[in-house]
Amino acid sequence: MAQKILLKDIDVPGIETFDVFRKQGGYSAVEKVLKTMSPEDVVEEVKKSGLRGRGGAGFPTGMKWSFLAKPEGVPRYLVCNADESEPGTFKDRYLMTKLPHVLIEGMIVASYALGANTSYIYVRGEMMPQIRILEKAIAEAKAAGFLGENILGSGYDLEIYVQPGGGAYICGEETALLESLEGKRGNPRIKPPFPAIAGLYGCPTVVNNVESIAATSWIVLNGGDEYAKIGIGRSTGTKLISASGNINKPGVYEIELGLPVEEFIYSDEYCGGIANGKRLKAVVAGGSSVPILPANLILRTVNGEPRLMSYESLADGGFASGTMLGSGGFIVMDEDACIVRNTWNFSRFYHHESCGQCSPCREGTGWMEKILHRIEYGHGKMSDIDLLWDVQRKIEGNTICPLGDAAAWPVASAIRHFRDEFEWHVNEPKAAMEGNYGLAHYADPLPVPAAPSELVK
Ligand SMILES: Cc1cc2nc3c(=O)[nH]c(=O)nc-3n(C[C@H](O)[C@H](O)[C@H](O)COP(=O)(O)O)c2cc1C
Ligand code: SF4
Repeated sequence: MAQKILLKDIDVPGIETFDVFRKQGGYSAVEKVLKTMSPEDVVEEVKKSGLRGRGGAGFPTGMKWSFLAKPEGVPRYLVCNADESEPGTFKDRYLMTKLPHVLIEGMIVASYALGANTSYIYVRGEMMPQIRILEKAIAEAKAAGFLGENILGSGYDLEIYVQPGGGAYICGEETALLESLEGKRGNPRIKPPFPAIAGLYGCPTVVNNVESIAATSWIVLNGGDEYAKIGIGRSTGTKLISASGNINKPGVYEIELGLPVEEFIYSDEYCGGIANGKRLKAVVAGGSSVPILPANLILRTVNGEPRLMSYESLADGGFASGTMLGSGGFIVMDEDACIVRNTWNFSRFYHHESCGQCSPCREGTGWMEKILHRIEYGHGKMSDIDLLWDVQRKIEGNTICPLGDAAAWPVASAIRHFRDEFEWHVNEPKAAMEGNYGLAHYADPLPVPAAPSELVK
């Protein structure tokens, strides 16, 4: 059985309450850091752990913390990014619903390490139940003396506030989030300066994902070296994966990084295989923003190595044949899925969510949506496929924030790996309009295993 860190107590009845969480050993990390460790010691342990940000970019958390400016007399802030609006990603919501105290404990540990006396959890505005759950957990922790003034007699003060988000995907981008937290429209800021120098209210700020913050309690309790022993290479520790699509067991799974993708998809411990006995066609491995891969490339690298659930292995081959771990939103598509329709759907989302500050993103996402719509509905021309390619190329790398790239990559990868399916839509407009999404031409797409291979135990 794989090691569990964040979800280890998920099945304990009442674990969402302070009393049960405490009986299970909860808040021991707070006692340990406040009584025996300096803030620098905590940062050092997190650096040793190799923990990388779980919000998508995978930036090393300890290193991010050590960049925080510490000017005299200026407050510092920790802001937890719980906006979680990436299509296919729902692991932070799960953690906050089931194990709110895991996040609150991590918030106290991280705030202490950063010297923050006021910290915020910015929760996606639609998640009202989670907002209430977190507010209750904060009140319980405060009543027990783990928040407020002079926590456990240590002289350290901390208040945590929950802020409902502005209701836009872009508010998850860290600088847009800070704008929104300040009460403004959630438009990304031009960087530099980075939040570590000038963040919330112009003060040094660290923005971290829910899962990154939650992992820090285990790290300080057990040591960064112990955490680094879990996982593979520079992908240390465990990762929450939101698994959805055409699988038998959708849900949130905590995996040890380094697990073979094939085992994740087909074993009963995780996704339980493709639903209804169908074959695997494609996977979006890290949320809607990452390149889609066909079955053969998600299961094996071009060198024939088993593809692993790790930052490095998923990226193996670059954008030509690899993808990214991203936020861990793992969307599985079976042989009946229409890649054009899926790409159009993602493009609608990005067009809707573009904040409009940069022309390539504001205009380009709309153009991509329109072109994809006409191909999907049987009005496309062959030249549209090249036009689509051209538009996404002109967005990538030419925008203020990564939403532009996130809109371009799914389109680029869909054309790169499934161009014949786009062409089929153009050549067979009647069938495309009737909703026969490329089934005929996709009868035998790629060397795809019909059943789990010997890799799966
Ligand atoms: C459009 C967009 C949306 C994002 N949404 C989220 C989100 O919902 N949650 C999150 O943690 N990070 C999100 N990010 C990444 C954040 O900007 C930031 O990198 C992250 O919160 C840092 O935390 P980490 O280092 O712990 O991963 C988003 C980025 C972009 C460009
Ligand atoms: S890339 Fe898109 S979302 Fe990001 S700042 Fe530019 S217009 Fe706004």
